[in-house]
Amino acid sequence: MFRSHHAQPPELPAVRTAPTRPLIVFERVFKTYGNGNPALEDVSFQVRPKDFVFVVGASGAGKSTMVRLLIREEVASRGHVLVDGQDLRRLRRRQLPRLRRKMGIVFQDYKLLPTLTVEQNVAFAIQVTNPGRRHLKEKVAEALYIVGLEDKLLSQPGQLSGGEQQRVAIARALVHRPRIFLADEPTGNLDPDTSWGIVQLLLQINHRGTTVVVATHNREIVDLCRQRVIAMEQGRIVRDEVEGQYMDGAAQAL
Ligand SMILES: Nc1ncnc2c1ncn2[C@@H]1O[C@H](COP(=O)(O)OP(=O)(O)OP(=O)(O)O)[C@@H](O)[C@H]1O
Ligand SMILES: [Mg+2]
Repeated sequence: MFRSHHAQPPELPAVRTAPTRPLIVFERVFKTYGNGNPALEDVSFQVRPKDFVFVVGASGAGKSTMVRLLIREEVASRGHVLVDGQDLRRLRRRQLPRLRRKMGIVFQDYKLLPTLTVEQNVAFAIQVTNPGRRHLKEKVAEALYIVGLEDKLLSQPGQLSGGEQQRVAIARALVHRPRIFLADEPTGNLDPDTSWGIVQLLLQINHRGTTVVVATHNREIVDLCRQRVIAMEQGRIVRDEVEGQYMDGAAQAL
């Protein structure tokens, strides 16, 4: 009960939106391969859930190394890589499958199994990560529908174009509904029109709520998309822009 007629209305609680925790964190990461090659030097950046990021840079700049650290194929020599709050250095071997289930990955060469059909290639990914196989058929069909290949279920990779093979690889990476989608030079073997189609698909996957990181040399695509760009040179980040281009804007103007 109010004691006074002049009582102020109760204060509304301050609206607090919890800051979203970054999904990927690189914190002063160095990576030197066994032969002494420094591949990453003092690399720091964060990626928030639902971000779309291009990682660009010349051959040898360290893009694939960054991807390998994220899937924990390699471990940082110094510094920390965190995925979903988890420091990958501390990850135990038995925790690896759980990390990998959070991720879908595609490469320049599609890495499909040539003797299996499209449907089997996509299903194979679930059978490996989640042998329970619940709703297997539906999940495979959904992933192939997203990439527009629902009518190629029974084809074999050799009967498909490069662009179609990359779509199968994307479906395979999507089938366990990863939170993070990594693509290492996904358009490296494709002509410009087909490449554009693949990138449209990656943007669409991002719009469905998946965080997407794409390592690429493809200048045309990066410039058309106007997404965040992390530019690497000799293992270091030289630029990190919200709506970036392949080349530094200032350098381009010269
Ligand atoms: N397994 C490895 N052993 C030794 N050195 C390596 C290894 N992998 C990469 N490197 C070196 O690390 C550096 C970064 O290589 P990385 O593959 O990350 O570059 P990249 O940006 O992906 O290049 P590209 O565009 O050609 O794919 C290069 O100097 C490379 O020679
Ligand atoms: Mg590479």
